[in-house]
Formats: sequence, C-alpha cells, structure tokens
Amino acid sequence: MARRNKLYEGKAKILYEGPEPGTLVQYFKDDATAFNAEKKDVIDGKGVLNNRLSEYFMSGLNNIGVPTHFIKRLNMREQLIRQVEIIPLEVVVRNVAAGSMSKRLGIEEGTPLPRPIIEFYYKDDKLGDPLVTEEHIVAFGWANQQDLDDMVALAVRVNDFLSGVMLAVGIRLIDFKIEIGRAWEGDFQRLIVADEISPDSCRLWDIESGQKLDKDVFRRDLGSLADAYTEVARRLGVLPSNV
Ligand code: C5P
Repeated sequence: MARRNKLYEGKAKILYEGPEPGTLVQYFKDDATAFNAEKKDVIDGKGVLNNRLSEYFMSGLNNIGVPTHFIKRLNMREQLIRQVEIIPLEVVVRNVAAGSMSKRLGIEEGTPLPRPIIEFYYKDDKLGDPLVTEEHIVAFGWANQQDLDDMVALAVRVNDFLSGVMLAVGIRLIDFKIEIGRAWEGDFQRLIVADEISPDSCRLWDIESGQKLDKDVFRRDLGSLADAYTEVARRLGVLPSNV
C-alpha cells in the first residue's frame, strides 16, 4: 500500500491523510505519557487495545445518535475518521472526585459528587492545559455560547452512555475527557465527538475491589498498564486476539 501522508503526530496517535476528502486515518501508538510528557514509556499492545476500545465506545455512541468522528476500524492500529476542526478545549466530566480536582479542591479521591461536574481545559502543552471558565472560552473566541451549550449536551450524553456501558461490566466511570470538533455538512456546522475514548482518557475503577483499570496505573506506578487495559477490553468482549 502507498505510504500515507502524515499530517500530525501527537503523544499517543498519528493522523494521516485519508482515502477520501474529509477523512483521516488515525493511528494508535504504543507510547504512554503522563504529566505533560515528563513521564514516558512504550507499552506493548496499548495502541491495539485503545484502537479497539475507542472503536467500541465511538460506534456505540454513533448508534444511539451521539455523533462522533469514527467511521470504521481499518486494521489493528488504524481507524478511518471524519476530519474535523478540533475545538482547543478538553472537556472533562466527573462523577466522583479524583485526580486534579481532588488535588485542587482538597476533596478526598473517591468522594461521589452530588451531580456530574463538567470542566473545560484550554489545550496548550506549554501552559499545561489550564482550567478555564466559560467566560474565558467565549471572550477568547475558542467557542461561542451556542457551541458551549452543544458541548455540554454532548458531554452529558457521553457520560450517561459510558457510565451505563461500564456499570454493566462491573466498572465505575469516575471521570473522562473528550475532545470535540466542528464537522461541516454543506453550509451547516455541527459539533461531534473526536479524538479517542479509551482508558488513556478515562478513570475506571472496579466496582468491587476499587482496582484502577486506567492510565493512573501508569501515572502512579501501580502495575501493568497493558494488563489493566486488557481487563477492560476482556470485560467488554472486544479483546483483540493477538494481544
Ligand atoms: O487529571 P485530571 O483529574 O484533571 O483528569 C480528569 C480526566 O481527564 C481523567 O480521566 C484523565 O485521564 C483525563 N485527561 C486526559 N487528558 C488530559 C488530562 C486529563 O485524558 N490531558
């Protein structure tokens, strides 16, 4: 096959030109990074697992009418996606206090929140992706008020879907991050879920034992990241045969 034109390489993925206009090929690498890439490793098979898991979550969302960039999986490490203009915000939804929220506000990890909390972080590695308010977002033109309403609506639907899917396999969805992009349909623009949804971008705790099955295993040196992700894939019935 002819080599594809590389458009962008990030910490965990590469984007190549797609076969049709308006499409891209997203390649999942085995690289793991944390703390804004201060901690790095290569985890054999992580890219294969995340490709499968992101396919599973995104196609599930497509099926219930939550639009995503996912078109189809091409092979073990690549998927065909719609090209979008990424909004430079990370949208985090939290059901239970953990991570940066626990640290910032002094709330013990594992404390259930009275309602899901949605936060926005400005995507900028140099600044360490700072937390921003809706006022910042509108004032600096990253999104308008209608976009914000649409992003919140998408985030809530993704949270309901993912929480249910994970609960069914004995896993609590603590929090997650999504990225959202603008897709053009003629003159009409709509916001769709983009990037990836995988244990790299979620916190997933076993309901019974509290065991962490997400990237915190790598961030906090809690054991084998590949084993944790394999367990999530196994429970969801999407374990690739050769990992
Ligand atoms: O670190 P923090 O507690 O803010 O992370 C909240 C959620 O967002 C976690 O599930 C984490 O994995 C995800 N996240 C991410 N990419 C980032 C920051 C956070 O996927 N750059």
